Amino acid sequence: MKKHKSDTTGKETRHVSPDNNHGLSAEEYRNFLANASHEMKTPLTSIIGYSEILLCQPELSRKDIARFAGIIRREAARLSGIVSDIIALSELDESRLHREFAPVDLLDCCHEAAERLRPLAEVRGVGVSVLGVHAEISGVATHIAQMIENLCDNAIKYNRRGGRVELSVKKNEKGIVLTVADTGVGIPPEHIGQVFDRFYRVDKERSKESGGTGLGLSIVRGAAALHGAGIEIESTPGAGTNVRVIFPQDATSQKP
Ligand SMILES: Nc1ncnc2c1ncn2[C@@H]1O[C@H](COP(=O)(O)OP(=O)(O)OP(=O)(O)O)[C@@H](O)[C@H]1O
Ligand SMILES: [Mg+2]
Repeated sequence: MKKHKSDTTGKETRHVSPDNNHGLSAEEYRNFLANASHEMKTPLTSIIGYSEILLCQPELSRKDIARFAGIIRREAARLSGIVSDIIALSELDESRLHREFAPVDLLDCCHEAAERLRPLAEVRGVGVSVLGVHAEISGVATHIAQMIENLCDNAIKYNRRGGRVELSVKKNEKGIVLTVADTGVGIPPEHIGQVFDRFYRVDKERSKESGGTGLGLSIVRGAAALHGAGIEIESTPGAGTNVRVIFPQDATSQKP
């Protein structure tokens, strides 16, 4: 990741290097398998442990039964999230080989992502707004949807009660700029270079509490690369984060 600028307010801006990795090297593949297995093992161990307690201890109170069932459900949801992320990454690889692009309206995708994440935003007490212009690119709708959803999910999760998230689509001389801006915890400058790496989490405990695996931003990076888009990230610890995905002019679909 190229460092772009850092100022006295602690604000850090980076250009994220494109993910031009058409397939992983043998070592990267081994690392990926090891990390993925480790991430899946943790919730599985929990699920097996708590279901054994439920099966083997007939004297449990209703309260404990409900508590253990809740843990099993939470861990199963985490496992399902990891599997969905791995499927998304493998579908990205697939789409690199078979590019089936169609017109996609970025503003509509932002509205849809905001709608899907509304329950999470309500639980977290974070306001989400969408603004900007309708702008069509030539792309793969599912990957664009996953990209925006992952950015918006982070912007809500790593935020504070009463915080804000703004999704916007604008056109400028560089192309079409999709921005996800939040008023959240921000990313310390020493971590900003790694957050797009697979399985990387700044605060592993905090992220695990919210069910994070560290795959979301690698999906964003892969989806941006598929569409020839660049990524810029700007963050100030304690104040918030802005991620901009810049689709070049030639990514726009030609309207008749
Ligand atoms: N908007 C943000 N504000 C603050 N920190 C962020 C933000 N987005 C990402 N991060 C940090 O970068 C890390 C990597 O993000 P990423 O989306 O890849 O993984 P995750 O959110 O932990 O898990 P997943 O997205 O797979 O559920 C996060 O764990 C978090 O520490
Ligand atoms: Mg995430």
